[in-house]
Amino acid sequence: MNQTETTKQKIDAGEIIVANMSKYYGAVQFHKDVVKDCSFAIERGKLTVMIGPSGCGKSTLIRLLAGFEKPSSGTITLNGHPITGPAHDRLVLFQETALFPWMTTYDNILYGPRARGEVTKETLDLAEFLLNKVGLQDFRRKYPMQLSGGMQRRAELARAMINNPQVMILDEPFRGLDAMTKELMWEYYSTLYEENRRTNFFVTTDIDEAIFLADRLLIMSNIPTQVRAVLEVDVPRPRKLTDIVENDRANEIKMEALSILHEEAMKSFSRGSKAAADFVEAYSRRVAKT
Ligand SMILES: Nc1ncnc2c1ncn2[C@@H]1O[C@H](COP(=O)(O)OP(=O)(O)OP(=O)(O)O)[C@@H](O)[C@H]1O
Ligand SMILES: [Mg+2]
Repeated sequence: MNQTETTKQKIDAGEIIVANMSKYYGAVQFHKDVVKDCSFAIERGKLTVMIGPSGCGKSTLIRLLAGFEKPSSGTITLNGHPITGPAHDRLVLFQETALFPWMTTYDNILYGPRARGEVTKETLDLAEFLLNKVGLQDFRRKYPMQLSGGMQRRAELARAMINNPQVMILDEPFRGLDAMTKELMWEYYSTLYEENRRTNFFVTTDIDEAIFLADRLLIMSNIPTQVRAVLEVDVPRPRKLTDIVENDRANEIKMEALSILHEEAMKSFSRGSKAAADFVEAYSRRVAKT
């Protein structure tokens, strides 16, 4: 991708503003607040990572941003216009694989443009570019069941990016992969991001993943969720895993994020939540290690 294309894509990238948004489920008198008076911005062309305790409402927020559900109150806008439903300008990648098992890697990647009848020479070139970027050029004729878990996630990244969405929304896309594959995925994904600089919104519960990937880190409170803190991850790009573990600034941000997350998890722990208890235990082990 050349410089002109990169600049053009920057201009096309979208900005999402969430303002005083709440979401509850159930009848008014018995309702369960999941998101409460939540406000934040997903800045144009940046990689914003949201991290929060398990069960705090992150996937609910994603469904709202995607337009699958509507806020109970407050607003969500994309480039100043309210989000009223799902659309091609926002593409969501979930944890579960969504590749079609009866299609090869290549056909899966080209699925979106073909379905819209938009296959041009440019699209085919982009498919080649993406196949290369995710290291699947030798696996183009393989079916999903012939790919490893990490390869499937890479194929999905390429399949999403070929559609050139203004905003990519990713809900813990690497959860469940083994540690080494996961770390490789961070590198593939951040390289793709760095080369096209679209607006990306990435949700995780993994602090190392969050620090490695983020330009901005939103730390969420426990349920009903709100933004507890916004940290700018001012660590230079491109980032390498080997460098980031020794980067003082990255470690400083990690410690600050962990202490806020720990506090949030403890609140819920005192209310007796099993998910939060697991979270506290896992994070306490991490804090003890660092
Ligand atoms: N349709 C619904 N009706 C009622 N409650 C719901 C609904 N959808 C989500 N919730 C509740 O909202 C809360 C938050 O769920 P959500 O999946 O958004 O959390 P999460 O932060 O993504 O969790 P995890 O880290 O485990 O993925 C849960 O307590 C869940 O039961
Ligand atoms: Mg979730």
